[in-house]
Amino acid sequence: MEKKLKKWQGWLLFLGTMVVVFVLGMLAASITERRAEIASVYNNKKVDIKGIEPRNEIFADNYPREYETWKETEQSDTQTLFNGSIAVDVLEARPNMVILWAGYAFAKDYETPRGHMHAVEDIWKTLRTGAPMTDAEGPQSSSCWTCKSPDVPRMMQSVGVENFYKSTWASMGREIVNPIGCADCHEPENMNLQISRPALIEAFERQGKDIKNASQQEMRSLVCAQCHVEYFFKGDSKYVTFPWDGGLTVENMEEYYDNIEFADYTHKLSKAPIIKAQHPDWEISQMGIHGQRGVSCADCHMPYKSEGGIKYSDHHIQSPLNMIDRTCQVCHRESEETLRNNVYERQIKANEVRNRLEDELARAHIEAAFAWEKGANDAQMKDVLKLLRQAQWRWDFGVASHGGSFHAPQEIQRILGNGLTRRYRLAWQQLKYWQT
Ligand code: HEC
Ligand code: HEC
Ligand code: HEC
Ligand code: HEC
Repeated sequence: MEKKLKKWQGWLLFLGTMVVVFVLGMLAASITERRAEIASVYNNKKVDIKGIEPRNEIFADNYPREYETWKETEQSDTQTLFNGSIAVDVLEARPNMVILWAGYAFAKDYETPRGHMHAVEDIWKTLRTGAPMTDAEGPQSSSCWTCKSPDVPRMMQSVGVENFYKSTWASMGREIVNPIGCADCHEPENMNLQISRPALIEAFERQGKDIKNASQQEMRSLVCAQCHVEYFFKGDSKYVTFPWDGGLTVENMEEYYDNIEFADYTHKLSKAPIIKAQHPDWEISQMGIHGQRGVSCADCHMPYKSEGGIKYSDHHIQSPLNMIDRTCQVCHRESEETLRNNVYERQIKANEVRNRLEDELARAHIEAAFAWEKGANDAQMKDVLKLLRQAQWRWDFGVASHGGSFHAPQEIQRILGNGLTRRYRLAWQQLKYWQT
């Protein structure tokens, strides 16, 4: 027997379908509306921004969420086990470092980094205690400004890149006032990510690569690589240069520096020609599992944030441990505690080797000074000084990137371990000397 729908059943089906269609329609409308809302963030620009605009507050009306979170980098109130936004006086905590840097400005003042909004203020403070501030006291190069402000690309455009580096610190001081901000990482007109610093573009070019071919995901790290890298001031014009021509490892860069006989300073006690490492965060990150899997700096330091259905990038760049739910847990299922401990475990183990090397290096400088005092000559000290230079370069490279022991734990252990090996070879050299 054939089953037929009763009339009322037909109507019910019709009405039911209508309700479903209506609800779906509402949903679609709301999605479109949200899309439009996100698009309006870009389309309803309140201010038309042209050229290199260094003033961060000009961007506030167009991009209020990014601007407000960027401003939060001013906060100095969080502390993790080894890092955080509070400036810590490192020399007081680890006095051996005063010996390692004897003869260099860092031995007078060295504090842990804070948020980007403090960049200009903090370098004034450092130079006040560590190095000459005015031309009359002896000129400090303008190259020191390079990673502090979006006024830098503006001034480079105005006076030329080489002239910028050649200028003195003080002569640029009046121009460079806005801390690290929008125009450092974005083209102000359309907010595309951009590389505003020539040193990174040039380092890529010398390796036969065009940075313009970088993917969007790579750009989410390369904007940071404008500053969070190893660099030095080359030649009389103090041209900011990345020593990457032979590769990105600690040995590749050492060879680069050895070939041009470069030293940042001569150690006051041992007379070893020392290379001061900067902060090779990007290079070391490439050697860790996250870098190798294509996880970008922004994935962990600028996670997405949602507000009223709008998703945007949190511009409060800080320790990812302060926002584990929006960083690590986007990819990992473990608890906050487990993930935090994963980080701390890697840091504690790296610091164990770091502390030993730091201790040994301080002794080695003092022993070398003693040897000079007892009448050792250049020929006798040549190998000792070379090993000291190598050991200290490894210590500094492994330590100066404050995130390195999590970004690439195996690489940091390898580097610090090789630093200790140099120290023991050095002890043999000294033994040989005392026997002759
Ligand atoms: C124009 C140069 C520049 C760029 C670009 C830059 N940084 Fe920085 N960064 C700095 C400087 C300088 C400091 C230290 C500021 C201070 O201590 O006053 C710093 C500090 C930091 C800190 C420490 C903050 C804290 O609270 O302890 C982190 C983390 C950081 N940067 C990550 C990043 C990431 C991730 C990127 C890319 C998305 C990036 N930076 C891009 C120059 C830069
Ligand atoms: C240290 C680099 C850096 C600085 C400084 C910076 N941004 Fe961004 N910004 C990024 C990155 C990385 C993204 C993510 C881009 C992507 O994934 O395509 C981003 C994304 C954006 C976007 C796209 C929407 C979003 O939230 O993802 C806007 C708009 C934006 N930033 C505005 C600003 C403004 C305004 C300032 C200054 C107050 C600023 N940014 C400073 C790196 C930076
Ligand atoms: C965008 C995704 C992503 C984010 C964000 C992320 N990870 Fe990972 N993590 C990965 C991938 C991919 C691997 C490699 C695992 C694989 O390929 O099987 C990995 C590996 C690891 C490992 C194992 C590494 C080792 O030494 O063997 C640990 C531990 C880890 N992540 C912790 C963290 C912590 C802590 C955070 C937050 C600070 C974090 N991850 C953020 C994707 C991510
Ligand atoms: C998988 C997540 C992850 C990625 C990817 C990542 N970081 Fe980190 N970063 C961390 C963690 C975790 C720490 C340690 C934070 C702490 O100890 O509080 C850290 C620490 C740092 C610090 C030291 C912060 C301080 O307060 O001194 C800097 C600077 C930094 N990272 C920059 C970068 C840069 C630049 C990149 C890309 C080249 C990058 N990070 C990629 C997770 C990440």
